[in-house]
Amino acid sequence: MEKLLDVIKERRSIRDFKDEDLSKEQVTTLLEAARWAPSGSNIQAWRIYVVKGSKLESIKKFSPGLLSDPPVIFVICLDTVEAENKGGQLSKEVLSKMDIAIAAQNVCLQASYMGLGTCYIGSFNKIAIKEILDLPENHIPELILTIGKPDKIPTPPPKKELDELTEWVGWKDE
Ligand SMILES: Cc1cc2nc3c(=O)[nH]c(=O)nc-3n(C[C@H](O)[C@H](O)[C@H](O)COP(=O)(O)O)c2cc1C
Repeated sequence: MEKLLDVIKERRSIRDFKDEDLSKEQVTTLLEAARWAPSGSNIQAWRIYVVKGSKLESIKKFSPGLLSDPPVIFVICLDTVEAENKGGQLSKEVLSKMDIAIAAQNVCLQASYMGLGTCYIGSFNKIAIKEILDLPENHIPELILTIGKPDKIPTPPPKKELDELTEWVGWKDE
């Protein structure tokens, strides 16, 4: 079995997908990975819209960051009413958005483990996507994930070295 760190390192942002559908079973496994993510006060104030077909094509027109042709996308929405009612302003403005990112990363890692590719899309028109999907007032699209069978896997982009990213506090030199 692959080590988790290998799965983490091998995940890449995929922007070239094969023209192949995903099965409902595959998608359900990815949703299950999201479901088990941690969340502030365990509020889980997000909804995932699983989109393909003509609605996906319409969303692409309003998403400058989405230049690939994935068979399916997840539009991950914040439920502002649930976040505020259960966690107040801090949950609505900050923590629930972190929760969405964490759930998304669970999806990306599970997908990678299954030989699927994903890419985060942060550049899209929220108002247009809300209209296309006919979302209720309280569901705000925060993040899109493209998902599919990778056609090309890019070489890893440069990552900063650990010492650029880390400060060790309270550790004696070893
Ligand atoms: C919050 C967030 C938003 C992103 N938005 C986009 C996007 O709109 N379009 C895109 O092609 N990639 C997007 N990316 C992917 C990044 O460009 C990518 O993660 C980064 O270049 C590192 O590459 P890697 O994911 O292969 O490690 C986004 C990533 C994150 C985490």
